[in-house]
Amino acid sequence: MDNVNANIEKVLSQKIFKPNRDFAKLARIKNMCEYEDLCYNADSDYEKFWGDLAREKISWFHPFNKVLNTENAPFYKWFEGGKLNVSYQCIDRHLKEKKNKVAIIFEGEMGDYKVVTYRKLYTEVNKTANLLKNHFDIRKGDRVVLYMPMIPEVAIVMLACARIGAIHSVVFGGFSPEALRDRIQDAEAKLVVTADGAFRKGKPYMLKPAVDKALENNSCPSVKKVLIVERNGEDIEYVRGRDFSYNEMIAHERSIFEPEPMDSEDPLFLLYTSGSTGKPKGVQHSSAGYILHAQLTMEWVFDIKDSDNYWCTADVGWITGHTYLIYGPLACGATTLIYEGTLAYPNYGRWWQMIEEYKIDKFYTSPTAIRMLYSHAEHEPRNYDLSSLKVLGTVGEPINPTAWKWFYEEIGGGRCSIVDTWWQTETGGNMITPLPGATPIKPGCATLPLPGIIAEVLHEDGSRVENGEQGLLCITKPWPSMIRNIWGDSERYIESYFSQVKRDGMPIYFSGDGAIIDEKGYITITGRTDDVVNVSGHRIGTAEIESAITKHESVAESACVSKLDPITGESLFAYIVLHENVPRSMGEELEIMKEINGILSKEIGNIAKLGAALFVPGLPKTRSGKIMRRILKSIARGEEVKQDISTLEDPSIVEKIVKIVTNV
Ligand code: WT7
Repeated sequence: MDNVNANIEKVLSQKIFKPNRDFAKLARIKNMCEYEDLCYNADSDYEKFWGDLAREKISWFHPFNKVLNTENAPFYKWFEGGKLNVSYQCIDRHLKEKKNKVAIIFEGEMGDYKVVTYRKLYTEVNKTANLLKNHFDIRKGDRVVLYMPMIPEVAIVMLACARIGAIHSVVFGGFSPEALRDRIQDAEAKLVVTADGAFRKGKPYMLKPAVDKALENNSCPSVKKVLIVERNGEDIEYVRGRDFSYNEMIAHERSIFEPEPMDSEDPLFLLYTSGSTGKPKGVQHSSAGYILHAQLTMEWVFDIKDSDNYWCTADVGWITGHTYLIYGPLACGATTLIYEGTLAYPNYGRWWQMIEEYKIDKFYTSPTAIRMLYSHAEHEPRNYDLSSLKVLGTVGEPINPTAWKWFYEEIGGGRCSIVDTWWQTETGGNMITPLPGATPIKPGCATLPLPGIIAEVLHEDGSRVENGEQGLLCITKPWPSMIRNIWGDSERYIESYFSQVKRDGMPIYFSGDGAIIDEKGYITITGRTDDVVNVSGHRIGTAEIESAITKHESVAESACVSKLDPITGESLFAYIVLHENVPRSMGEELEIMKEINGILSKEIGNIAKLGAALFVPGLPKTRSGKIMRRILKSIARGEEVKQDISTLEDPSIVEKIVKIVTNV
């Protein structure tokens, strides 16, 4: 398989595939003229464009009086004066026409399944809202942390929070108790909702013990209670007065709960993500702007239809799980599939079998999953009928042309557009992506920004780079679903996103990604320019990794960079300097590496394991003590070191490291 990301030129020279004409005829956006018309409308009157869409798409309790307020930029406000409730938008407004339509199809890994109609979803969300309010005193603005598996209750609890106006913060179930504790503390959550556990790889796994660990020694004083959904039936301990069973309590609740009228800008949720420095940051999203973009992109990018069965494989603990598993599909009144388990249980045909069984029309997944399925069972899809598929989507990382072509031909039968969607936790929804009925697609290229999204590839001074030259991927106008703040840290919000690129003194949103734009305006993402590593589409901050590694008593210092990996896209590569008195031997180093991986999985979770570690005598540093990571990245990727090393405090260290690498 070709190296992911390594060969941008290969992507740039790919041939173009045209959208399927039969599909296009029925699509919402049928051709490039229609796309360009929308872009033209957005360009000629930006506020009218977004204002009209917001009026059309959202069921307002009270209309807004201002589309965009830039007075306090970059703290933008959208649709001020408007009142809405996101749970109403996702459920109540569909009931008149779709009360018996399936909202959620759930399939457990062991093959059990369940359908939840819109009517049933309404009942369950209302009961849950009553439960949260009456027994756990959850009010508007309170934070609720969810540490849950992929089961319908996760959607129900998220929507119940939205109904009350409480702010949810979903923590990925693969994060360790320590990582969970950090997030609970930062959000000062009042309640944690979890499950005993669920099923994975054919076996039960546990979540509740991690919550106990996160809360032990009264380390999260804000948390008063824990609510537990029973899923796998394994024994768990209930702490008296603190822990309560969802399944027992929910039966007694009333199924009517008036949705709280929320301001457009009231936060809907927090979602923690890694930055290049420091602890994870709580990305804060709004109510109106977020749900508008979630709904709109389901219509534009997935061309969601009433009869569709739609499946997004992302875990609910990531932004894709928020926007394209739950909020987007439900805001459209669509049917969304929630699958509990892994892609390889009982074998590598599981996903294809589910697509056949549920006649999935639109399928959204990650390049890492595609590469795994391709490399383990290339011909397996041929055993299944995948002819229901119409649109395929990928997200989270660049997709290499080889994986793209397999996805296109073997899964999509050469008939489906692939929407390679570029976006981020911070953008709330898709930003740069093909439209399936309109955009000619190019393997590995995210193509064009959506109408109303102004993406540019810039130098730091805000000027545009030449076509074909790499630059900084920026969004130069605010957009409705953008991040509103970092929870509790406005300075970090400005510092993280609005400090690197300025145009005429005005701060511009910089994504952290590099990109190349061609003469047609097609944008190819070249990867992060900062110290963030993308492992299987999971964002990992190297600063967090380094601070965990140095907790090992033998380690003096370390530097972590990304290395290319044929399956996970990138992997973590750590350079480790041991204290002088530590005995050196292969055996000793292997032992330390094992212990370091143990620390990483305890501090962060299993997604943070090192792909490789190299024990070195020192790190390349400038005279002011700054580690030159770019040099280390080049070495890890087996590239020639082109950076100027003469300004290093000890230039000979580079040669020493290269020597060690070539000997390994
Ligand atoms: C980072 C955002 C967006 C939801 C999942 C990840 C990378 C995302 C693509 C793509 C190339 C991509 C970027 C971005 N990324 N989509 N289609 N092609 N790279 O969300 O954890 O916030 O990560 O993922 O580097 O900055 P996230």
